[in-house]
Parts: sequence; structure tokens; C-alpha cells
Amino acid sequence: MTTASVHGLFLSFEGIDGAGKSTHLDAAESWLRVHAAEVVRTREPGGTPLAEALRALVLHEPMDALTESLLVFAARRDHLRRCIEPALARGAVVLCDRFTDATFAYQGGGRGFDRDVLSRLEDWVQQGRQPDRTFWFDLPPAVAAARRAAARAPDRFESQDEAFFERVRAGYAARAAADPGRFVRLDAAQDTGAVREQLLAALQAMVDGLGRAEPPR
Ligand code: TYD
Repeated sequence: MTTASVHGLFLSFEGIDGAGKSTHLDAAESWLRVHAAEVVRTREPGGTPLAEALRALVLHEPMDALTESLLVFAARRDHLRRCIEPALARGAVVLCDRFTDATFAYQGGGRGFDRDVLSRLEDWVQQGRQPDRTFWFDLPPAVAAARRAAARAPDRFESQDEAFFERVRAGYAARAAADPGRFVRLDAAQDTGAVREQLLAALQAMVDGLGRAEPPR
């Protein structure tokens, strides 16, 4: 594939807190800037002024799991309409730090909230829109906890115990099993350089695949 040959792709990055996702998003962004005319990097909850305001509430205000779910889907609705869909329509590659798999993992898995309700909200809000590829940084919660211990003050999710993150991890595993063509699982327990190599190889394989066929969906 030649330079600027990747367009109109929606990529999401997922994993439990402490997986090292942010560092690897930087690497993916740099790599993609060589291959795409426009890269839009964004995050959830967030990505628009309204969604960023909702993010601050979700991360720091006490609330139950239904309220949490409604707020992340409200933020997602605004993010899709005002940022993601217009970017994809322009032909940009959208690099999103978390998307709906995080809702199934954190609210569905971690909080034990009803996944059927989440599926209905997903249908209403997304109207069939899903990431083309999801890079899942998977690692044991104990390893992630050790990494988080060295980081900044925890938010409402980062302060949860290991059992919570075991359920979040299981939530991601269930979503990956349900849509194996979309998910790329990366072994995030390895050191940063090794994880970056896995990621860049997966991106290269994705781009090579686009050269042979239509975009994944
Ligand atoms: P995170 O993406 O880890 O950002 P940072 O690196 O700045 O801490 O933080 C977002 C938190 O929000 C994370 O703990 C997971 C949580 N979250 C949900 O609970 N549900 C969701 O649908 C999304 C998108 C995130």
C-alpha cells in the first residue's frame, strides 16, 4: 500500500486501566499519519464539548450503573453525530480511545449491569455503526494494578479492586468472542516495545488486507 492509502476507517482501542493503551495510541497515531491523509484521534467518554462535560461527571460523581450507562451512551451519541460520523464521511481514519466495548466491559462486566439494556442502547445510539477494528490490550488485572500504582490519583474506575477488573476483562473477552473478525487481541503483559511491535504488525496486516479487499465493513 502507498502513502495516504488508508481512509474512512474507525479504529478503537480497549483494555483495563493500566494496560498501557495511551502509550500505544501514540505509536498507532504516528504510524497511521504516514498511511492516511487525515487521522482524528479522540476518546470516550468524550471527544466533543458536551461529551467531555459528561465524562467529568462519569469519572468523578457517585451514581448507579444505569445512570452511568445512560451518560456514557449520551456522550457517545453526541460524539458520533458531531465528531466520528463527519470524520469518517470526510475519509479520515478515526482513532478512538475506548468505545462501546468499554461499556459492556465496565458497566456490564464490572458493575454487573443488564447487558440486554446495554444492547438496546447500543442499537438506538449507534444505528449499526461499529469500529472496523478494535485493538484489545489484554493483561492480568494484577499486572495492570502494579502499573497503575505508579500513576496519578485514581478516578471512580481506577480505584476499583482486582475482582472488578477481572469482571471487566471477562466482559472484553465475551465481546471479542462475539465478534472475532473485529477484535485484535494484543498481549499487553509484555514490555512496551514488544507490545508496540504486536500493534504495528497488526496495523500493517490490516492495511495489507485493505489492499486486497474492500474495507472490513
Ligand atoms: P481512560 O480511558 O482509562 O482514560 P485515562 O487514560 O485518561 O484514565 O478512562 C476512562 C474511564 O472510563 C475508564 O476507567 C473506563 C471508563 N469507561 C466506562 O466505564 N464506560 C465506558 O463506556 C467508557 C467509554 C469508559
